[in-house]
Amino acid sequence: MNAENNSASIMNSEVAAPKKMPFHKYKPFQPVALKDRTWPDQVISKAPRWCSVDLRDGNQALIEPMSPDEKLKMYKLLLEIGFTEIEVGFPAASQTDFDFVRLIIEENLIPDGVTIQVLCQAREELIARTCEAVAGAKQVIFHLYNSTSTLQRRVVFNMSREEVIRLATDATEMVKTHTRGLVAAGTDLTLEYSPESYTATELDFAVEICDAVMKVWQPTVEHKMILNLPSTVEMATPNIYADQVEWFIRNLPEREKAVISLHTHNDRGTGVAASELGLMAGADRIEGTLFGNGERTGNLDIITMAMNMFSQGIDPGLYLSDMPKIVAVSEECTKIPIHIRQPYAGELVFTAFSGSHQDAIRKGMNHVQSGSDGQWEVPYLPIDPADVGGSYRETVRVNSQSGKGGVAFILESYFGVSLPRPMLVEFSPVIQKASEADGGELKPDVIWDTFLKEFIEVEGPYRLLSYKVNSEDGREKCAATIKVGDNEIEVQGEGNGPIDAFIAAMVETLNEPLNVVDYQEYALNEGSEAQAICIIALTDDKGDRFYGVGLSENTTTAAFASIIAAINRKWR
Ligand code: KIV
Ligand code: ZN
Repeated sequence: MNAENNSASIMNSEVAAPKKMPFHKYKPFQPVALKDRTWPDQVISKAPRWCSVDLRDGNQALIEPMSPDEKLKMYKLLLEIGFTEIEVGFPAASQTDFDFVRLIIEENLIPDGVTIQVLCQAREELIARTCEAVAGAKQVIFHLYNSTSTLQRRVVFNMSREEVIRLATDATEMVKTHTRGLVAAGTDLTLEYSPESYTATELDFAVEICDAVMKVWQPTVEHKMILNLPSTVEMATPNIYADQVEWFIRNLPEREKAVISLHTHNDRGTGVAASELGLMAGADRIEGTLFGNGERTGNLDIITMAMNMFSQGIDPGLYLSDMPKIVAVSEECTKIPIHIRQPYAGELVFTAFSGSHQDAIRKGMNHVQSGSDGQWEVPYLPIDPADVGGSYRETVRVNSQSGKGGVAFILESYFGVSLPRPMLVEFSPVIQKASEADGGELKPDVIWDTFLKEFIEVEGPYRLLSYKVNSEDGREKCAATIKVGDNEIEVQGEGNGPIDAFIAAMVETLNEPLNVVDYQEYALNEGSEAQAICIIALTDDKGDRFYGVGLSENTTTAAFASIIAAINRKWR
């Protein structure tokens, strides 16, 4: 096909009638009849009880499940973060999980105040094996589940409601029996029951089965059991999940004897929102994983939910300040890279490329530094990146979308160079052109090299070879050797200071007036290696302005170099 035909076919395909998706295959989720819902008026004001299910739900979903060493590494990270409830595995289903649970118990790796949780299906041999796994642990949550979903009852188990309730209550009885020995030996045991696929279960049935389990287990207000309401598959908008939670809580007999726990997945991409609204609807406890690793689209991302609270001035109850470490350990153990846009943790989440954003961030940062009463008030940055181990530097990166602000920021924060505005106006198009030519991001070292070429190592007819400055009778006298083209010439001048004297010498050589209209000199870094930077602007007889920059350990050399650079830029 020649180029003409090719473009014609692209044109044709671009205007082809849109095709239709087979949406008729799906039914809308029926909303909950709860006209007087109260959750929309609630405000989250304190952190829930968090439970990490990284080592179970997260691990089960990995292409390559964690090795024992990786499990241990992840477990230690979860402890460092401050989780006090950790689902450490499904010991009856996996030997690795069983061995891991034994290891942390036998090696005394469970700190006081930390409760391990183990998942188990409603089957006697699995219940017995799970009890074996947790023998000797001080505090255990026995997490029993069976699916209650309408669809699964019909197409998977072919069981009536009564039969499913019986399955759950029998299993609860078995847990009671099999854990008697553990409790007698001093284990503080809590039952957690999950009507798995809660979001796909009729609400009255979910309440009925949970109530039946409670009647068997006999929790008390002092020693509650946990009722976990999984959105095993996320099926509707998060407001519907919140309605389902509020409905459940309102209709559960003896609610005061249960801790209501949520366990959301992320099939529609709203796992965090569902847990947040569910918490507003009265839940007490949240299960999830770091960065949402878990089955299919993942579990609730605990980091996002906790950081969302943090950004509202609420103590999240988890320590997430060493985010780079959390990212590194998670990536190592799950072998899943954290996305660059992952909330609070991704490489780009505190970065602005757009010029107007960069400018606003810079002003916001100045405002914060100069007195915002300790409150974080920086546009485009929901939190201070430093709170999660980031730095202000990472907030600004430069590409062709960036403007003066970004360039100024990079020079200032990476190199300590602050440019006068007219110079920035001159330099910014140079950077713009370079980034357009490159097509991507200009890293700080490239910006610095471009700055050097533009203002310091300027190609031109003049080069300063050597100079001498003497004071005589309160006047400075300067004698310098300048290379002009292929010739070396000696120049001399006199003035109130060295700069004055050197300018006078150059004026004589050039035979035209030069005025210093802007001058600043400061140290670039501290200590014995300190370099001085001199930024100078000269005008010629026509009033045109030329900036030049000099860098040297010696302030006079830096100043003279800046003058030569400015003159060379004039002749460029
Ligand atoms: O998603 C789910 O329903 C689960 C249960 C086992 C709680 O992981
Ligand atoms: Zn799950």
